Amino acid sequence: MKYIFGNWKMYLNTQQSIDLAREFAQLVQDGDGVEYAVFPNTLAFYDVAAELKNSPVATGAQNVGWTPQGAYTGSTSAFMFSDAGAKYALVGHSERRHVFGETNEDVRKRLEASIDVGLTPVLCIGETKEDRDADKTEYRLKKQLLKAFENLSLNGNRVIVAYEPVWAIGTGDACVPEEAQRVINLIKQEIKQYVDTDVPVLYGGSVSADNVVSYVSLPDIDGVLVGGASSKAESFMTLINNAISA
Ligand code: 13P
Repeated sequence: MKYIFGNWKMYLNTQQSIDLAREFAQLVQDGDGVEYAVFPNTLAFYDVAAELKNSPVATGAQNVGWTPQGAYTGSTSAFMFSDAGAKYALVGHSERRHVFGETNEDVRKRLEASIDVGLTPVLCIGETKEDRDADKTEYRLKKQLLKAFENLSLNGNRVIVAYEPVWAIGTGDACVPEEAQRVINLIKQEIKQYVDTDVPVLYGGSVSADNVVSYVSLPDIDGVLVGGASSKAESFMTLINNAISA
């Protein structure tokens, strides 16, 4: 297991984000063999990045605008996040796609913008419950991957993919680990068509301190992207302890 990422969504204010970042940094060590990152809200980003500066925990943007600078009210660009110390950027998170109506084309622009400024994008993909009920999981994932990766130039950058089934996010209805392993294996096969470097694939969707080991012990699951359970000190610290001692 190589990655434990915490997506704090819109759960914490600035002081809560700084406090949780500090607690996280005190718990983990460089030699853990794990890449840690948190994704605070945009307003808290700068303070959290400063708090984590000399720690093993990286900081990432929850979403990035694709134009570096300009008349785009309400947007914060990949360039600006990079300037403020970001290492990663979530791209195409389910809530961006389904609550804010972002399309595969928007996702592609954010992906390219992240790569352009040297951020490592964490491309989020996943099927809805309707897709799953209609037996369209593979169709949906392949389409999202095609739109993201076809003719994409990585320019030596890394990219990470997070498989987050929409129906598993924030519901407590986590994907059965064996099924996540099967789908992630399929995603890895598919990505090989487009990208000739190794692309780590994480699982996300109702990951908790209790179930994290069942995911990270499977061969193709390279780590976890945690939402709700990463936003509270007790559950996140227990989750990390369980994962690293597995
Ligand atoms: P939950 O862990 O709250 O289900 O959220 C997952 C997620 O969306 C991480 O990006």
